[in-house]
Amino acid sequence: MRVLSGIQPTGRFHWGNYFGAISQYIALQGNEQSFYFIADYHALTTVRDPAALKGFTQDAAIDLLALGLDPDKAALFRQSDVPEVTELTWLLMTITQMHLLEKCHAYKDKKEKGVAADAGLFTYPVLMAADILLYDSDIVPVGQDQIQHIEVTRDLAQRFNHIYGDECLTLPEGRVLDASAKVPGTDGEKMSKSYDNTILVFEETPKKLKKKIMSIKTDSKTVEDPKVPETCPVFQLYQLFADDEQQAELADRYRAGGMGYGDAKKRLLEAATAHFAEATERREKFVNDPDTVEDILQAGAQQARTKGREVLDRVRSACGLKSKG
Ligand code: ADP
Ligand code: TRP
Repeated sequence: MRVLSGIQPTGRFHWGNYFGAISQYIALQGNEQSFYFIADYHALTTVRDPAALKGFTQDAAIDLLALGLDPDKAALFRQSDVPEVTELTWLLMTITQMHLLEKCHAYKDKKEKGVAADAGLFTYPVLMAADILLYDSDIVPVGQDQIQHIEVTRDLAQRFNHIYGDECLTLPEGRVLDASAKVPGTDGEKMSKSYDNTILVFEETPKKLKKKIMSIKTDSKTVEDPKVPETCPVFQLYQLFADDEQQAELADRYRAGGMGYGDAKKRLLEAATAHFAEATERREKFVNDPDTVEDILQAGAQQARTKGREVLDRVRSACGLKSKG
């Protein structure tokens, strides 16, 4: 069984990315073969600043390693270090029906807002299909928002196999990551870099982390008032870090009254700091050792290319192109 997933380097990782995606796919590493990549080709559809793209890609690699991605258990690589994926994208593009892409949400949302879309955004799901199909991936853990793209991938693989011969491409299965892990941002809405309400996994300084946590929006209840934990973003975030007993204890203090939101925020700050303490230490090491990070990425790319070339060769032959093997 091969597990594969990718994440775009479009900004620094926040708690939503971590609990909603990264922590869950790191937990799956070590399955027969696991491939995790940083989708820098995809990020080009939105990030147009070369220095920013480079920085986000490097940060993504460092952060993933710091958070526990183990290169002995999973191949970690940059999407663009495996150029075979662009060739497979073209081969898939030749059998992709326009209507399939017209209904995909990233493009549709832009079109509905009257924003001009590039061909890159329109064909984004085909590149994603190539990412998955190039490695005969069986399981693709993704957030709910990506399930549509997995369906497109399956459609394309089926159509390709129908035209060029059964079993050329492996049909993958999406595995929806725990949807209940929808992480609220500092304003109580879904945490997202588009809403400017994020708390980063690795804030630059402890002071910045504290400031972000202290800025979480709460209602205007006084210290004495009894409070409702379930609807409070401070409590919802605390739940991500605390065990059942700790959660029950804080919930009781909310309901009893006599505790201000400032106290709850302090508890959250402590819990988050403790949760990421080891990762923060590991991160420092990787930040100071970019050569090791690059070696890990190159070794990952090598593993990915070995598998990718095998599949691409099979696909080229099936289409009537000269096989390279
Ligand atoms: P953003 O909304 O900040 O642009 P992305 O769309 O790049 O984040 O998200 C990358 C991954 O992280 C996706 O798989 C998505 O499901 C997950 N994710 C992002 N924000 C959240 C959140 N607030 N709660 C749970 N998962 C999230
Ligand atoms: N589109 C995904 C996202 O925005 C990232 C991604 C690119 C991906 N290629 C992939 C995820 C292949 C899983 C498999 O989150």
